[in-house]
Amino acid sequence: MTVKWARGGPDLLVVLDRDAGSLGTQIQDQLRAAIREQRLAAGERLPSTRHLAGLLEVSRGTVVDVYEQLLAEGYVESAVGSGTRVAAMSGPAAAAPGASAVSSSGVAPSRLVAIDFEYGIPDLGSVPLTDWSWAISEATRTLPTAELGDEDLAGSRHLREVVTSYHRRVRSGCASADDAVIVSGFRQGLTFALAALKENGVHRIALENPGPREHALIARRAGLEVVSVAVDDQGLDVQRLRESGARAVLLTPAHQCPTGVALAPSRRRELVAWVDDVDGLILEDDYDAEFRYDRQPVGSLQGLSPARVIALGSVSKTLAPAIRLGWVLAPPRLLAGIITEKRLSSRGAPGLDQEALALLMETGRFDRHLRRMRDIYRHRRNVLAAEAELAFGPGRLRGLAAGCHAVLQLPDGVSEREVAATAATMGVRVNPLGLYRVPTADGESEPSAPPPALVLGFGNVGEEQIRGGIRTLATVALRPRAAAAGG
Ligand SMILES: Cc1ncc(COP(=O)(O)O)c(C=O)c1O
Repeated sequence: MTVKWARGGPDLLVVLDRDAGSLGTQIQDQLRAAIREQRLAAGERLPSTRHLAGLLEVSRGTVVDVYEQLLAEGYVESAVGSGTRVAAMSGPAAAAPGASAVSSSGVAPSRLVAIDFEYGIPDLGSVPLTDWSWAISEATRTLPTAELGDEDLAGSRHLREVVTSYHRRVRSGCASADDAVIVSGFRQGLTFALAALKENGVHRIALENPGPREHALIARRAGLEVVSVAVDDQGLDVQRLRESGARAVLLTPAHQCPTGVALAPSRRRELVAWVDDVDGLILEDDYDAEFRYDRQPVGSLQGLSPARVIALGSVSKTLAPAIRLGWVLAPPRLLAGIITEKRLSSRGAPGLDQEALALLMETGRFDRHLRRMRDIYRHRRNVLAAEAELAFGPGRLRGLAAGCHAVLQLPDGVSEREVAATAATMGVRVNPLGLYRVPTADGESEPSAPPPALVLGFGNVGEEQIRGGIRTLATVALRPRAAAAGG
């Protein structure tokens, strides 16, 4: 059902799908996007809650909740006598239409980025800041004085209990608080785990190819030899892993980064057999498994083989990268090494933040946020899929079962780099798939295998931006080719 918001406020289209979950979430999402995209200008007056409720045929309470949430997030302001107005934006939300001009691809757009398909960014406008500030103040009020001493090297006992209980409940894991170490996000956990691996006589690690280049750099920095193992449409090729001679592997089984493939059940079994055969270790990067759309997320490998899996978790996708908290769930023989590394490098994460995260998760606020975000991302993913099919034809978008990114396959012969570079000049930021080729030891990318493709992050782009962005990409990628061949 389409509702035109015409009288009593700016002319803005709000589309409500009454079969698609919370109406409040839909309104909130669309208003937030309209403000971020500056379709609603600073100072613009929003209709009264009664008026908007009438126009959209929802209860007034729903609109009141929406306005309160937007108020708490800083998108709108309200003053007695002047109603609710769009706030003058500064900071990350306002930055979306153009702030940081260089993507991780190193492609510098020649003008501002209006539509940002950068990989890996969750919806920054939806970070539950009200809940987080509640949790921080609650942590400050309730943390026992003794715990201000930062004594527990593994991290807050409370948070370790909460995250392992969460991991057992949501990810079918089987770790307990004694198996957990709290860290400042996945990358720090990875660094500590790699150091412990090296202490345990592991010198070579296999990484998925394609995969994040940064992980290869982290592994090399930790003094390990990196070998890359191909990923196909079933996930990591375990036969090739066997042939690689590595005794450790880092992988993203729930939603491969960047291809989006979930590791097939037969591959999971082969992987667990491999790790026993080589007396090895699996590092499981569980970065976005919570956002699975077609069925329940596949369980963590840690639950299948706890003695041989180090599970690495992070709230960078579920909450925000700025919170910078994560956990490592490790077999007992590696724990001491991980904790030593943590002690000698940084002592990990701030104690009050750890307590706040424990409270957020324990009180159900974290789960509520995940449910809300799942609906938002599902909706964006559906818009992206429909728009990509319309513009590029069927079957071109892959890796949509989970997470906040997908891979758009371009027509053969098109240069993914050139498409990304040209799109950047038109205000659309997107990464070519080739950016995720694991670099060789001398820093070069391995030759990019066809077909050409783009990685589209859809976590932090609104619906209209997705539509506009895909249309721009189609214009660039499908135009008669003169310069676009090769590369
Ligand atoms: C593949 C992958 N793993 C893990 C993470 C989380 O890393 P961190 O917790 O260091 O932000 C990300 C975030 O973008 C990611 O893309």
